[in-house]
Amino acid sequence: MAESKNLWGGRFTGSADARFAEFNRSFGFDRRLFEADVTASLAHCEGLRGAGVLTHEEAEQIANGLRLILERGQSDSGYFDELLSAEDVHSFVETQLVQLIGDAGRKLHTGRSRNDQVATDFRLWLRGEIDRMQEKLREAQAAILDLAEENAEAVLPGYTHLQRAQPILWAHWCLAYFEMLVRDDERLADARRRVNVMPLGSAALAGTAYPIDREAVARELGFDQVSRNSLDAVSDRDFCVEVAAASSLIMLHLSRLAEDIIIYSTQEFGFLELSDAVATGSSLMPQKKNPDSMELVRGKAGRVFGHLAGLLATLKGLPLAYNKDMQEDKEALFDTVDTVSASLEVTATVLRNVRVREDEARRAATRGYMNATELADYLARKGLPFREAHDVVGRLVLLAIEREVELQDLSLEEMRSFSPLIAEDVYESLSLEQTLSTKSQAGGTARERVAEAIRAARVRLSNPK
Ligand code: ARG
Repeated sequence: MAESKNLWGGRFTGSADARFAEFNRSFGFDRRLFEADVTASLAHCEGLRGAGVLTHEEAEQIANGLRLILERGQSDSGYFDELLSAEDVHSFVETQLVQLIGDAGRKLHTGRSRNDQVATDFRLWLRGEIDRMQEKLREAQAAILDLAEENAEAVLPGYTHLQRAQPILWAHWCLAYFEMLVRDDERLADARRRVNVMPLGSAALAGTAYPIDREAVARELGFDQVSRNSLDAVSDRDFCVEVAAASSLIMLHLSRLAEDIIIYSTQEFGFLELSDAVATGSSLMPQKKNPDSMELVRGKAGRVFGHLAGLLATLKGLPLAYNKDMQEDKEALFDTVDTVSASLEVTATVLRNVRVREDEARRAATRGYMNATELADYLARKGLPFREAHDVVGRLVLLAIEREVELQDLSLEEMRSFSPLIAEDVYESLSLEQTLSTKSQAGGTARERVAEAIRAARVRLSNPK
């Protein structure tokens, strides 16, 4: 293992305490920024050439060296172990470059600091991760839409307070989650706009002292803008908080979806069955089939929320500009994007591995007085003020409960003794299909509205913003 000399040795006569050096070191995890670091260094090298700081030959030497380093890093997994003692990814790349090309390599750090370097690398890396998360998000959305279409006929009881409320279409339930993920996708896209701003050229805090064309460097790296204030640029980690917040909402939505799937696949509910591909058994109880996949997604939400809270706490008391506390942003975001991506993938897989138990769900959707609101609406349509209609139906429900029957099992005479407005057509009103079809305004669960909503969702998914 080659010995790494740190980048800041001149002013020091003593050497670092070994435990402190280990504590200080981030190479164990920030090696994940390796490609971004080399890419940003290549662009900086061009900037220095443009500014006349590097001769054409020096710039060529540096660029060739950096490309070799990039290639080796991409192809040789043992490469990073050569300099295990490197302080961070930036020191690693620079040290490798000097080893490889000699003196010219020592000029690369002109006009930049690790402070603008790390902020630039992190943004470059995160931009790619946001794109990947959005892809995964859309795959999960596609799985939701497929589940909706494959079960277009199916119904289920809708709940409030986890008490049976009104029947809805399965597809309507699916689309509720689709909508949540649409907003999540928008939030990621919005965060990406602020991520995609280039800090490079801020140097340590005050701005670079060399005539580097920052706009050209930014274009080279695919950034939309350059940062407008050097102090802000090296100390801003809002972008990390935003992505952690958007990620937290994704996990919150996946967790609620997971919870619905978990309870719907219990024997008590019985509306769903998970295939063997996404369930596990018990080592003790032979009959068990457990929804671990969804439980883990639900559980991992807590971990992502923790990263958001942790980042906020880390940043809140920091004086301007860069402080080493900020190194803590890395592991938090690495774990956040890994957890979100894996959870989205597993959720999409689960959605493709559930069977809707249509008969059971339909049975549940037609029991428990879920058509009571429909009866109140029926009376209101016949002119009874809704508050009175509510009261009449409440008393009818009480009677039905005593008799242990559903509303539609009461005779017309019995019903009419509560209100003379009730006529023979009441039975049609109490039917499941009628209960669904009256919810026909925009956003409702009527069959034609839901079919439209699925079509609109398909269009949105194929042209995301
Ligand atoms: N590893 C550091 C981080 O992640 C890089 C920046 C170091 N800058 C410094 N002035 N020590 O924040």
